Amino acid sequence: MLGADCSSNPPILNGSSGAGYVANFGGVSSYIIGSHLSLLAIVLVSDVYGYKTPNLRKIADKVAAAGYFVVVPDFFHGDPFDRNNTNRPMPVWIKDHQPDKGVETAKPIIEALKRQGVSAIGAAGFCWGGKTVVDLANSGEIQVAVLSHPTYVTVDDIERINIPIAILGGQNDTAFPPAKLHQFAQILNAKKPKVDSYAKVFPNVAHGWTLRYGPNDPKAVKAAEEAHKDMLNWFDKHLKH
Ligand SMILES: *[C@@H]1O[C@H](CO)[C@@H](O)[C@H](O)[C@H]1NC(C)=O
Ligand SMILES: *[C@@H]1O[C@H](CO)[C@@H](O)[C@H](O)[C@H]1NC(C)=O
Ligand SMILES: *[C@@H]1O[C@H](CO)[C@@H](O)[C@H](O)[C@H]1NC(C)=O
Repeated sequence: MLGADCSSNPPILNGSSGAGYVANFGGVSSYIIGSHLSLLAIVLVSDVYGYKTPNLRKIADKVAAAGYFVVVPDFFHGDPFDRNNTNRPMPVWIKDHQPDKGVETAKPIIEALKRQGVSAIGAAGFCWGGKTVVDLANSGEIQVAVLSHPTYVTVDDIERINIPIAILGGQNDTAFPPAKLHQFAQILNAKKPKVDSYAKVFPNVAHGWTLRYGPNDPKAVKAAEEAHKDMLNWFDKHLKH
């Protein structure tokens, strides 16, 4: 299900990109940006390419500029998916990085945020990271969730959601097709009328479009930036009140 679609348009990794810095946070090497005095924190959970992709760090920088303390952990402990490694295609790599194990990596990070004095936490997951975000939501670790083109998220996960959640999908995404997004939205509307939810399908974009867009493709950049804005608006709406 993840397969080729999730690993298309591989980004160049660059561990020194972004305006923030890399440090150990909650036992995990993380890209960090934003004021340590902020009471509000956002955890960004990467796709299979990990925390060194310049586009993900740009998103972190944008979120921090809105007043949040932002942590982008290395969920793969130095071992992101490498499409060039033909000995380790996605079905093999994923065995070492099961999406449902991400929550265990994230819990000490949430603890560290609380020790720092943070009072509310939002999380956004991209592709692989979507599962970690619903697991954090369903274990009461975070207050607001955003999923962008998530994979591995199940109907059961969505049925258990009890916090505000926004789900962003692409019209041409075959890994997380619009039909699945509409199914999730319907479940939330029908079963969780008191939980604020938001679902949106972006026209003419394929899987991974919020992260793996080419910087020289104006249409792709525009769609990605619109998605980033929707994500930030959702955090602002539910965390800054
Ligand atoms: C990585 O990012 C740094 C900081 O933005 C930049 O100076 C450098 O040129 C980048 N390297 C590559 C290979 O893109
Ligand atoms: C993968 O191979 C392509 C084409 O040879 C190359 O441009 C790219 O830098 C490689 N990526 C990594 C992560 O090594
Ligand atoms: C997306 O799907 C629509 C409807 O099938 C199609 O008209 C459009 O060309 C597709 N866009 C891309 C970028 O593949």
